[in-house]
Amino acid sequence: MRKKLVAGNWKMHGSLAENAALLDAIKPALAGIDAVVCVPFPYLAQAQASLTGSSIAWGAQNVSEQAKGAFTGEVSTGMLLDFGCKYVIVGHSERRSLYGESDALVAKKYMAAQAAGLTPILCVGESLDERESGVTEAVVARQLDAVIQTAGVASLAKAVVAYEPVWAIGTGKTASPEQAQAVHAFIRGKIAALDAGVADGLVIQYGGSVKAANAAELMAQPDIDGGLIGGASLVADDFIAICRAAAAN
Ligand code: 13P
Repeated sequence: MRKKLVAGNWKMHGSLAENAALLDAIKPALAGIDAVVCVPFPYLAQAQASLTGSSIAWGAQNVSEQAKGAFTGEVSTGMLLDFGCKYVIVGHSERRSLYGESDALVAKKYMAAQAAGLTPILCVGESLDERESGVTEAVVARQLDAVIQTAGVASLAKAVVAYEPVWAIGTGKTASPEQAQAVHAFIRGKIAALDAGVADGLVIQYGGSVKAANAAELMAQPDIDGGLIGGASLVADDFIAICRAAAAN
């Protein structure tokens, strides 16, 4: 059976003091449970100092596709490795929609992350308009294909995919377990058509208004292998409950 993996995406939240309180609360409560926190760049050193030796890994929310050079404001894979990151989110819908990241750029970031030995958490998902016009599968397929055509299907053996319907992010509207499962099964089936072994081992997280109250029924779905958690990852008790629900399912 695939292992479940929950990752927190703190987005642009936190302060040294708030993070210290959050990390001090989740660390002992999640002892022995694999989890991830993706923190803002300036707090990577704090996450590393706090979480080294625990079962919680840490990572970033974005990375440059470039290795180094005159790219003001960008952060490279090497810099993430300097702070012990294992994971990096690529292609989050906020990066795609607010910062214009294309499928092609996301694929480059994914490749750069893997080349450096980081595990990319590749986000895919449709907008409300796209869902209502019946093109959810086509959108998710296009986003996946951009990566598969560039990096190859075998690369997914060293990646995590997160299905995050844009209409469910930060809105309080969670996809129903059935809606989420249907898209997760579509993603796994699409990959299975290319490589059954890779598809079988692939961790596919669900993200979008996951809360302590709805985590268990989402995690119980056969193709949901964990979660990518925004708002609830900032509340220690909620994040702990979600990670425990995933571990128990
Ligand atoms: P929320 O859990 O706040 O809806 O955010 C989901 C998300 O975007 C995680 O990457």
